[in-house]
Amino acid sequence: MRTARFTSPMDASFRSLNASIGFDRRLLHEDIDGSRAWVEALERRGLVSAEEARAMADGLEAVRAGVAEGRLEFSEELEDIHMNVEALLAETAGRAAAKLHTGRSRNEQVATDLRLYLRSRARAIAADLVGLIDALAGAAEAHFEVVVPAYTHLQRAQPVLFAHHLLAYAEMFLRDRDRFLWAADQADVSPLGAGACAGNQFGLDREFLRDRLGFADLTHNSLDAVSDRDFACDFLHAATLFMVHVSRLAEDVIFWSSSEFGFVELDESVASGSSMLPQKKNPDACELGRGKTGRVLGHMVGLVTTLKGLPLSYNKDLQEDKEGVFDAVDTVNGLIPVFARLISTLRVDRRRAAAALEGGFLEAIGVADYLTRKGIPFRRAHALAGEAVRLAVERNVTLAELTIDDYRRIDAVFDDDLYAAISVNAALESKDVVGGTAPGRVASEIERLRALAARFGREPREASRG
Ligand code: ARG
Repeated sequence: MRTARFTSPMDASFRSLNASIGFDRRLLHEDIDGSRAWVEALERRGLVSAEEARAMADGLEAVRAGVAEGRLEFSEELEDIHMNVEALLAETAGRAAAKLHTGRSRNEQVATDLRLYLRSRARAIAADLVGLIDALAGAAEAHFEVVVPAYTHLQRAQPVLFAHHLLAYAEMFLRDRDRFLWAADQADVSPLGAGACAGNQFGLDREFLRDRLGFADLTHNSLDAVSDRDFACDFLHAATLFMVHVSRLAEDVIFWSSSEFGFVELDESVASGSSMLPQKKNPDACELGRGKTGRVLGHMVGLVTTLKGLPLSYNKDLQEDKEGVFDAVDTVNGLIPVFARLISTLRVDRRRAAAALEGGFLEAIGVADYLTRKGIPFRRAHALAGEAVRLAVERNVTLAELTIDDYRRIDAVFDDDLYAAISVNAALESKDVVGGTAPGRVASEIERLRALAARFGREPREASRG
């Protein structure tokens, strides 16, 4: 900003480099809320009269409304949101406006604004994630009968309920929700009263300011207070892991919806066509979810890198904290409803999924487990099952198509009850542990997630764990 100590104007090139109003205008409401509290603290300390405080409070609300209605406009000359609000206040509140910045620094102000902003955005995202978790639980219920191969190394491994696969993502998003709530708590600390870097010189009541803005706690070191952006890193970390989870879900859906898999079909409302190839129905939503992960991770790495080696206390480098954070908020907010819709409208081809269970020898572990239950040590059982797989490969048949005589030639312990033991149903039913794919267990998990979603709807700030 240009103050009385300067005699010549700022060069236009530097003005545009220096200005943040182009993006920090987004903090208008937080800035006004912070200033409203500040005015009250000034009045309590006798630094402004009751009349002046009233004029400023009304004036600040007039700025809020004037900007929203397009009657008042920001100016790049004024650098940032803080200077712009103060300048507009001079128009709406007259002379009293000149007292607003008494004892205050933009350094504490911007930290306050960003904390208020992230606290509310992180909580809102946590609340929206409940909808996504509920959509996954709903889809798990709707497609409960569908069985798919689970993959390890992208090779068919074992049959699982499709619902079980969907709920894996619900678990990830539950953890993300906890992380966003945690990030909100990290932001929930009031730096007001830290001044430019050394603390407030008028003895303003920091506790009053904290309470007035609903912060849970106070910062305890003014140098740290104006230069700390850890809370923004925490938010970006939560956002990054959320994106990583979205990218993994996206990748699964992209695979599943390919002609090679054909397990699912996207609803037209979340798919796009090709400008050239008439037959195409592309999973662009998934690809964008996957693609935007790099961008959010980039914001996290960017901010951490900005902070690295930054000397105490406030430095203008810190102005670089906002664009990445805002973009991460927008990216996450843009994806949640799309993925909730994509999941709840997914069509599933049960027959294609069932067909994929054949031919991959997914029953092989069932054969080994069958022998183990008959008292054969697992390592030997594993080897015998391997022999059966080799024979089936040679004959180009499935394990269920080998005759009991074939099996008996491998080991006399095999009996007719083998076939039931290696069926898909038996494979599913046998995984009867908490977190296993036995249908009863998966049904309980659906119930658990639905109950959690309902509870979080009522108690939005309750964490899912401890
Ligand atoms: N626009 C600045 C930022 O975003 C506000 C704080 C400026 N403080 C200063 N001493 N120049 O960080």
